[in-house]
Amino acid sequence: MNLTVELGPLSLKTPLIAASGTVGSVVDFSDSVDFRLYGAAVAKSVSPEPWDGRQPPRIGPAGGGMLNGIGIQNPGIDAWIDLYADAIEKVPTHVWGSVVAHDIPGFALVASKMSQTVVTAIEVNLSCPNLDGQPFALDPALSAEVVSAVREATSLPIGAKLSPDARPIADVAGAVMDAGVDWVVVANTAMGAAIDPDTRRPVLSGLVGGYSGEAIRPLTMRCVLEIASAFPEVPILACGGVSSAAHVAEYMLAGASAVGIGTAHLAKPRIAASITKDLHRYGRNHSVAHITDLTGAFEPW
Ligand SMILES: Cc1cc2nc3c(=O)[nH]c(=O)nc-3n(C[C@H](O)[C@H](O)[C@H](O)COP(=O)(O)O)c2cc1C
Repeated sequence: MNLTVELGPLSLKTPLIAASGTVGSVVDFSDSVDFRLYGAAVAKSVSPEPWDGRQPPRIGPAGGGMLNGIGIQNPGIDAWIDLYADAIEKVPTHVWGSVVAHDIPGFALVASKMSQTVVTAIEVNLSCPNLDGQPFALDPALSAEVVSAVREATSLPIGAKLSPDARPIADVAGAVMDAGVDWVVVANTAMGAAIDPDTRRPVLSGLVGGYSGEAIRPLTMRCVLEIASAFPEVPILACGGVSSAAHVAEYMLAGASAVGIGTAHLAKPRIAASITKDLHRYGRNHSVAHITDLTGAFEPW
């Protein structure tokens, strides 16, 4: 099966995208993850100044998934450029940056500085659940303002990362497309929490954090279907609970053009190898010559 896909203005050699925050700076994971098997790898989100992140504990199992409350610990854009800009050039696939900030000028500043490096696209992280206050992605107008500022700050292609907690999520997708994004990333973690009944302590120091992994796939699937139905022309990078080729096919049938792998990397950093092999097998078994033939091709009852 031909795995090449188009995501907005980008041509990618495969629909698999390494999701932000699950492969570190990308550079740090070059020994454990085979980035040749990805259409792109997204670096952890970067803010205007260094952020320490939240206090431990900030990661833990919950239900069928995982909770994290990292709080986007990162060195800030200036140190990020010093640390990684040169090494990114050696990664054997596209590396995208991810920008985050507490305010709109901060997003624009990071995007502008990041554009001076060899990243080939920028994700606008509107949806981190681990910062104080409401994520931008819950508000269509605010999301559009952030995107407009980033659009002015860079000529690189940009994607907006949405939240599965936004209602209706299609309103946010429409607003950010109008503001100039080239695709939407659907989605970040869902907000969740858990308490250990023995210790009476929350799993996360911050109580509420981001829920990810297998358990969220049906929630994210619903988001992809809603956006694809409202805006069939909007390019979608689906991300949530992917750990097999069947999950990739499922998201593409729902309308995605590319598919992110996140939490699955924590247990299996080399998971893209088996997913790629199984995608080819799926193509043979189902007579699919080009993976793009799957996009939006689910059969309604
Ligand atoms: C430990 C951890 C850190 C993450 N950090 C970021 C981040 O810095 N920026 C971002 O946009 N998303 C971040 N995410 C969200 C993932 O990129 C992804 O959208 C989400 O986990 C859903 O996909 P999954 O179920 O495959 O993990 C993080 C997720 C995890 C588990």
